[in-house]
Amino acid sequence: MIKAIRGTRDLLPPETALWNFVEAAVRDVFRVYNFHEIRTPIFEETQLFARSVGEETDIVAKEMYTWDDDRRSVETKLESIWLDRLPKEAEYFAQPNLPGFDYKPRFRVDWPDNSVTLVEFSSQPSAQILEELSQSGKAWSKHGERVQIKLVTDRPLTGSLMQVAASVGVHTEIIDLRDFEPFQSLTLRPENTAGVVRAYIEHNLWERGLNKLYYIGPQFRRERPQKGRYRQFYQIGAEIIGPASAGSESPARDAELLELLATFLDRVGITDWTLQLNSIGCANDRAAYNEALRKALEPVVSKMDADCQRRAVTNPLRVFDCKVPKDQPIIEKLPRISQFLDESCRKHFEQVQEILKSVGVEFQLNDRLVRGLDYYTRTAFEFTHGALGAQNAILGGGRYDGLSESLGGPSAPGIGFAIGEDRLVMALKESAEAVQRKPDVYIAPLGPGMNREAARLARELRHHDVITELGDESFRLKKSLETASKIGARFALIVGENEVKAGAFALKNLQSGEQISVPHSELPQKIQSSR
Ligand code: HAM
Repeated sequence: MIKAIRGTRDLLPPETALWNFVEAAVRDVFRVYNFHEIRTPIFEETQLFARSVGEETDIVAKEMYTWDDDRRSVETKLESIWLDRLPKEAEYFAQPNLPGFDYKPRFRVDWPDNSVTLVEFSSQPSAQILEELSQSGKAWSKHGERVQIKLVTDRPLTGSLMQVAASVGVHTEIIDLRDFEPFQSLTLRPENTAGVVRAYIEHNLWERGLNKLYYIGPQFRRERPQKGRYRQFYQIGAEIIGPASAGSESPARDAELLELLATFLDRVGITDWTLQLNSIGCANDRAAYNEALRKALEPVVSKMDADCQRRAVTNPLRVFDCKVPKDQPIIEKLPRISQFLDESCRKHFEQVQEILKSVGVEFQLNDRLVRGLDYYTRTAFEFTHGALGAQNAILGGGRYDGLSESLGGPSAPGIGFAIGEDRLVMALKESAEAVQRKPDVYIAPLGPGMNREAARLARELRHHDVITELGDESFRLKKSLETASKIGARFALIVGENEVKAGAFALKNLQSGEQISVPHSELPQKIQSSR
């Protein structure tokens, strides 16, 4: 049996009602904060992520779903280039069959002058191929056509093969594949900030001033699956990005985004979150800090776990993310970025905190919070939630003031976040049953010909926003009423020949058992008024 891939899952009703509840709530919140939706492709050039998220990060080094877009073999590539060049007046046939002869060359090309070319493609020509091609040429010539035999390859034949080719009468044509577009490396997006910044640059979005964009969609990381960690997971994210002159660099943006998050989490009923806040400095601070960190790590690094040791070399800041318990006392003693912030960076961070205090959003300073992506500068944050266990980060984000430049764009300070929607849904107190709307009415057609009448009534009721489920005329009344109760409908509407004639229908309240006759025209109001 074919099952869903490890780390991916089907989201089924009624749980999908919770997802819709969350997405509707977040769209409402984005609307009043004047954010607009952006949808970028689910796959991008691999380089985009390597250059933004960073080559040395776990995400890029280990977790991306990457493939060469054009995995066709060299032969197929040769074939398509050769066919593209073939003059229009030539007619070609794939794998032409010659009765009584086993070998089929790749193509037979018929020319207007009645001559024929037999063509084979190979990136590793051998004497055997040349021999076979030659034999088939002879066999076809016996058929009475003028036959040329040709081998298309991507490299010159070696000396001895050249001799064989000449002796058996095979012409060779070399197509140098280096002259053609290389295979493109593509990656399923592991996150969406890189795609948004790419789109910002590609569509000159700076012309609009400040951009406040949000997205909801799947992301892909080949992580070890466990509760709250999937290989296809969903993010609800937002980015504020624009030229500094539009206010994109202001600490007011950081605070606005964090306050939005607090509002949203409260709105969906998640109250016991903790906002962990840090500043990881500007480019200048980072250089001095990295140097200090390297120095401090030098005498102790050999005592650390292998993974932490690797981080110490490739990206010392990421040492703070090492989870190995025995390394924690060492990490605790390392210098912190907070001690290295320059004047402007420190002020910026202070102002973020001041605004947060003034709007009443609580936070905890955590100078070990470094984030797992390389593009961050200054403000970095995570919201954690106790109920989630090991994967307790419900969302994360921060500033990325140099990202646009590093992707070849103009200076465009920005800040954003992404909520792990899977984790958010897990943390909801609300049950799926509570948010899923049940049918208002179940229509029970009784007897032959009544499906038609029922369909007409259902169409009418649905136009009035009544959630309607339809039975079938082949069901007995008992079965219809049982089904109606099972799906949680509030009413059953009985549609039989007598009702249709009278223009009034039996409406049964499935909770109280009360049954009344309701004139056709009053049905929508009657059903809605008792909601
Ligand atoms: P991130 O911290 O890598 O940041 O991911 C954000 C959130 O996505 C995490 O806090 C977590 O809730 C969720 N998440 C990550 N990986 C998984 C997984 N394998 N399974 C389930 N949930 C997961 C970013 O992605 C940045 N792009 C955020 C950002 C936007 N920074 C600036 N703008």
